[in-house]
Amino acid sequence: MPFRAYVATRHDAEVTTAVTDLDDDQLAPEGLQVAVAWSGVNYKDALVTQSGNRVTRRSPLVPGIDLAGTVVKSTDPRFPVGSAIVAHGYDIGVAHHGGYAERATVPAEWAVPLPRGLDARQAMILGTAGFTAVQSVQRLRQVGITPEQGPVLVTGATGGVGSVAVAVLAHQGFTVVASTGKASEHDYLRQLGASEVVGRDDLATDPSRVLGAERWAAAVDCVGGETLASILRTLRYGGAVAASGLTGGTDLATTVYPFIIRHVGLLGVDSVLLGIEARRAIWATIADQLPLSVLDQMVAREVGLDGLDGAMADVLAARVRGRILVRPTA
Ligand SMILES: NC(=O)c1ccc[n+]([C@@H]2O[C@H](COP(=O)([O-])OP(=O)(O)OC[C@H]3O[C@@H](n4cnc5c(N)ncnc54)[C@H](OP(=O)(O)O)[C@@H]3O)[C@@H](O)[C@H]2O)c1
Repeated sequence: MPFRAYVATRHDAEVTTAVTDLDDDQLAPEGLQVAVAWSGVNYKDALVTQSGNRVTRRSPLVPGIDLAGTVVKSTDPRFPVGSAIVAHGYDIGVAHHGGYAERATVPAEWAVPLPRGLDARQAMILGTAGFTAVQSVQRLRQVGITPEQGPVLVTGATGGVGSVAVAVLAHQGFTVVASTGKASEHDYLRQLGASEVVGRDDLATDPSRVLGAERWAAAVDCVGGETLASILRTLRYGGAVAASGLTGGTDLATTVYPFIIRHVGLLGVDSVLLGIEARRAIWATIADQLPLSVLDQMVAREVGLDGLDGAMADVLAARVRGRILVRPTA
């Protein structure tokens, strides 16, 4: 049976995209076949459609690193036909057809039961971005960061990772300072739980100085580049930053002084290769990590496969507040 899919194809360095029909035999032969109800647009999804990108490892490729839906064919008794599942990470949407299609096939070893308390749409409002935000907060707590220690900075705060990080930290009692380049979205960030909102430029420090004033007990950073360098200069003694992203750049110019004078920690966060048991454990409690009433505020818009090109352009231009949801059957 043919089904609709959004396909990215590489021609030498150039990538083109089109909505087209695929057949079941173009999906992986093994695993769970899923009727995809929802996907989402992550920054990485937008990179996959860029000419010359270093993310994609297959062509043609159905992008979409997140998917949620219902199992329609199964050879695995743990996920019988009718099971509701979520899948993200591993090779999905980069080297294995992903969520931007009416159907997808994923190995059972990559599948997560739809978490208690969430429907498929809510799970995709969170998606990889929200999952990474929860991981980031966990990383900070694992090194002993508590709400009593002082304000926690969230950068790229109106994006997917940032929005969820603000809500999760506030829900746990942290004083959250949200940093954004969008002057129009300060009220949104306060509604998610930020106590204070600062502009991106307010984080800048003098690069000729190895340390700056001690401002943050901790930070969740998905921006990287100069922003992460400034955070390292301004963490309080004993603080830590959970770093997951690169929207502001991939280079990191720092010295050893934040580490050896201020005893701070730089904690890497990866959602892609996290083992399936740890991934399922995080999803199993994710609905308790934030008030579910804030999820709808994070939805920028819903698009069908035909709306994906425009959605990706908006993500790359940092014009999106929260998450764009994808409904492949729309
Ligand atoms: N390590 C992992 O496993 C993992 C998982 C998920 C995401 N990520 C990475 O985390 C980052 C964020 O992902 P996302 O899905 O949340 O993306 P997103 O929804 O597009 O949000 C990114 C946010 O970064 C800020 N930003 C954009 N361009 C910027 C620039 N040039 N300088 C400074 N800030 C900028 C914007 O927030 P404001 O306008 O509010 O400043 C934007 O909304 C990406 O780099 C992504 O690849 C990594």
